[in-house]
Amino acid sequence: MKTLNINSKRLNQTLSELGTIGSTSQGMQRLAFTQYDIEARDMTLSLMSGAGLNTRIDTAGNIIARKEGTSPDLAAIALGSHIDTVPNGGKYDGALGVIGAIEVAQILEDTQTKLRHPLEIVVFTNEEGTRFKRWLFGSRAMAGLLEPDDETAADEEGIPMSSRLGDIGGNMLQISKAPRGRSEIAAYFELHIEQGPELHQSGIPIGVVTGITGRWVYGVEIIGVANHAGTTPMHGRRDALVSASQLVLAVQSLASELEICRVGTVGNIQSYTNAANVIPGRISLGVEFRDVDMRCLAEADQEFHKIAKQIEQTEGVNITITRFENTESVQINQSMQNLVEQATDLTGLNYKHLPSGAGHDAQAMANITDAAMVFVPSVNGISHAPDEYSTPEDCANGAQVLLNLLMLADERV
Ligand code: GLV
Ligand code: MN
Ligand code: MN
Repeated sequence: MKTLNINSKRLNQTLSELGTIGSTSQGMQRLAFTQYDIEARDMTLSLMSGAGLNTRIDTAGNIIARKEGTSPDLAAIALGSHIDTVPNGGKYDGALGVIGAIEVAQILEDTQTKLRHPLEIVVFTNEEGTRFKRWLFGSRAMAGLLEPDDETAADEEGIPMSSRLGDIGGNMLQISKAPRGRSEIAAYFELHIEQGPELHQSGIPIGVVTGITGRWVYGVEIIGVANHAGTTPMHGRRDALVSASQLVLAVQSLASELEICRVGTVGNIQSYTNAANVIPGRISLGVEFRDVDMRCLAEADQEFHKIAKQIEQTEGVNITITRFENTESVQINQSMQNLVEQATDLTGLNYKHLPSGAGHDAQAMANITDAAMVFVPSVNGISHAPDEYSTPEDCANGAQVLLNLLMLADERV
């Protein structure tokens, strides 16, 4: 196998440059379909062309860049990730996987290295799913995993996701053309920051991902009775925020004290009067549970509904729970993990096996092809926050493992 080295300086410069698009004093605001997202997509499109790839946009808005291989009958090896961020997010989540993949393609171009397989780099649409609550949209579309709710999704103002999809070159009416299969994609590799503390704490530079967590996401609506905060006696109030608070603590306890599932979070809360002198009459919450074992999520779901019923009775409120998303966990198959180990061995770096507590496009892609993920450390385990940071050295290590992985896979799959 030819030995190639990625260009660390270029990789990190490009990553920093991408990180200026949507950067604010409160962190990254490059939410899917925003002007920042569009600007970042344009930047990646031109980097891809510069690396000798032909680009197109599929009906799900995914950017697909391709370079043909020397063996015309082989399926492509795809590398990818996403460039959208959560609100107040970081510069590395997703971006490293995309810029790392482009750096790999650029090195192949610079050295005139030909692969047997076609190479594809994919920037997946709307991985985070914040605004329309439909995450992994592009990768699920490619994997044929979209549900009717994806086509009708709208944000809180009622703006349909389909209209925003048009802004980035996708087309919801033609979304059935997005799915692909193993005959087109022989393997999919994603480089990503760990987003948790394990690698940073252990001082190990590379993570070999063993599986990706399952996730159930809910919208909860609590209806009580709004009334005057000064005149209504404490006894007999039907305060939606008091009920919501009980539910928040219950979510925490299901995962922490009761250990029913690995993690549970209420990350979103809205009070519709939101005034100090009004007893809250309506609250909505965004809730999620995650675990690699889907049975744990089913149990958490049951308990969560049971606790909500109890709160309804004791507090005299109405609680409606809607499950927005139900994402299956995936295992990374052993042969793909072995390939990542070998790719890391070629760099002389240490590695460690670990499951992913975050969701990834690889999770959807694993349904249609062999997928593998390479993790690099997140300093202090911080992610989905402005302080998200991975060192230039760690980013370069990850991109080098990605390049080695591609070269190995080109010989073997
Ligand atoms: C995606 O980034 C997620 O794990 O929430
Ligand atoms: Mn990500
Ligand atoms: Mn993320």
